[in-house]
Formats: sequence, structure tokens, C-alpha cells
Amino acid sequence: MRVIPVNNYQEMSDLAAELFIQEIKNDPEVVLGLATGGTPEATYRSLIQKSQDLDLSRIHTFNLDEYEGLSPSHPNSYHRYMAERLFEPLQLKASQTHLPRGDAADLENEAERYEQLIQEKGGVDVQLLGIGENGHIGFNEPGTSFTSRTHIVDLKPSTREANARYFEKKEDVPNRAITMGIASIMDSRRIILLASGERKKQAMAKLLNEDKTQDFPASILQDHPYVTIIADEPALSAVSFEKGEPAAEYMADQREWELR
Ligand code: GLP
Repeated sequence: MRVIPVNNYQEMSDLAAELFIQEIKNDPEVVLGLATGGTPEATYRSLIQKSQDLDLSRIHTFNLDEYEGLSPSHPNSYHRYMAERLFEPLQLKASQTHLPRGDAADLENEAERYEQLIQEKGGVDVQLLGIGENGHIGFNEPGTSFTSRTHIVDLKPSTREANARYFEKKEDVPNRAITMGIASIMDSRRIILLASGERKKQAMAKLLNEDKTQDFPASILQDHPYVTIIADEPALSAVSFEKGEPAAEYMADQREWELR
């Protein structure tokens, strides 16, 4: 895993947007994997600002997940989140952007359909990921099998709590979601994981300093051949680096470094 330490949320976001722009320039038919949550919001804003001269007419996007029961027009759905923050500003066609439907009559079928659609489009080239405080990626909660494909999940109370800030009332947060599985995520050719803020420091320490375990889903990324982590100083503040140096020393020269 390649780690790029940055100073703050904005630097993380600008760099992530830059990497995405490069991907699109290198391959105008690139398949992008996208994430929701607070973390990628400024990445999307930065991408919109930097994308003026880009040909986006042939890219495809796949999102990681959606809440059960929320229609695409529901204000708290991830469909809506993506439409407002990225798809509409970039004027992407509906046929280019894909998310699992949380309001499908048969969610098992929907999971299969989504998984097949990703294959049909040639698989995800570069997947953006955030990380839950408990190590979840997408909505793959601790304990999820590393061999899982797109599936239905029960959300942990801690995850519902963490996401309650987007809803009017805590009780409104759905109990279940549909998410790309861990094996689906691992199929992506390249992965960019973003982490910002103190809230993520324990998760980053586990990801970078501890062994792989199903109890911490993101740890599977240690086995992926091409992961770039962009994280800011507070998110790296509990990580011990090689030879025990603190994050700050690595940040001083802003170099990229390899772990594991
Ligand atoms: C949510 C999403 C994840 C996201 C994570 C972190 O539950 N399903 O894809 O990465 O939690 O969210 P945030 O970026 O708001 O901290």
C-alpha cells in the first residue's frame, strides 16, 4: 500500500481529484468506482472545478452502496447524494452512472444484476474508498466474508449512528443496505482510499499497523496490488511508521512511502 500523507482535508481532496483527472485523461472510457459519506465531498467539488476540458462522455461510474428502501429521489439516498454532488454538475448521462437500487422489489436479484453489470462494463478501473471508524468499506461491516460479492447487509448501530447526521431523525436511518462485497471491491484494478480527521486515526492505525482480519474489513486491502492511501495528519496521528517514526517526520518532506 502506498501512503501519501497530506496536511489537511483540502489537500487530500485536491490530490484525489487530480488522480481521477489523470485516470480520465489516460483512458476516456475509464470505469470509476465512487463512494459516498463526508470524506469524498470536497474531492467531488475539486473534480468538478478541474474537469472543464475533460471528455466525460464515455466514462462509467459505479457506486459502492445504497440504503435499503430509499428510492433514487429520496433526499437521503446515495442516488441523490451523487446526483447533486457530482453527476448533475458534470452533466453525466443516467446511462453512464450506476448505483444499486435500494428500493428494488427483490434485493437479492438486484445484487446479482449489479454485480453482472460491473463485469459487463469491464470491471472497475479505479475505486475511491472512504473508511468507517470500525473499518468498514462500502457497507461491509466487521465480520463480512472477504469473498463476498454485492449483497444485503444489516447496518451496525455504530454505523447508523455515524450516518445519522445526514437524516432528520436517528430512527430514519435505514437498518439495511445493499453494498458491493469485499471481493467485488478487491477486483478493482486500482484503489484510492481517503481518510481525514482524528475520527479515523484508530482505523488508520489498524489498517497500517495490524494484521489482516475479517473483523476489520479494510485490512484486506493489504493484499491488493495497487492501493494508494491519501490521509491527512490527524488521520495518521496514531500510526507508527517503519522504525517507529511519527507521522509528522514523514509529512515533513511529503514523500510517498510504502508500508508492507
Ligand atoms: C459510510 C459509507 C462508506 C463511507 C464511510 C465513512 O457508511 N457507506 O462508503 O466510506 O461510511 O463515512 P465518512 O466519509 O462520512 O466518514
